[in-house]
Amino acid sequence: MKNKQDVSRRDFMKMAILAIGNVIGLSLTIPGVAYILGPVLKGKQVEGWIQLGSTTKVEIDSPTLFKVNLQRQTGWVADEEQLAVYVLTENGQDFIAMSNVCTHLGCHVRWVTEQNKFFCPCHDGVFDKYGNVVSGTPPRALDRYEVKTQNAQLYILEV
Ligand code: FES
Repeated sequence: MKNKQDVSRRDFMKMAILAIGNVIGLSLTIPGVAYILGPVLKGKQVEGWIQLGSTTKVEIDSPTLFKVNLQRQTGWVADEEQLAVYVLTENGQDFIAMSNVCTHLGCHVRWVTEQNKFFCPCHDGVFDKYGNVVSGTPPRALDRYEVKTQNAQLYILEV
């Protein structure tokens, strides 16, 4: 013969075991889900300051091309990308860093020393040494990077 208190004690034990099971289950599931979804939710990781190279490589008054390989992580996908940056200085101390990507449709501009201009091969866009549009279809100047020097090394801040 069951008395009412035995049944409720048994029910209590069932509920306690279920609750403990749920806590254990969640404690295992939440970190697993966070581990799986974490990189996807983070999106594209920003690199921060990127080292270009020595300041002594930059020719006075002539944009100098630097190329760096970047490792990018977007979600679960890791890929390598090459970044090309033109650096200009007029005094060897202050530097301007410009993207080599044309602001029209994204072709790569090229510096031609003899003409003292950047040329875009796609639609004849022309930029001066500061990256300002001289002629053609580009809607604005070449994008610039924030730049700093440290121990005679150039760094740009990627955004
Ligand atoms: Fe450079 Fe069109 S992409 S002018």
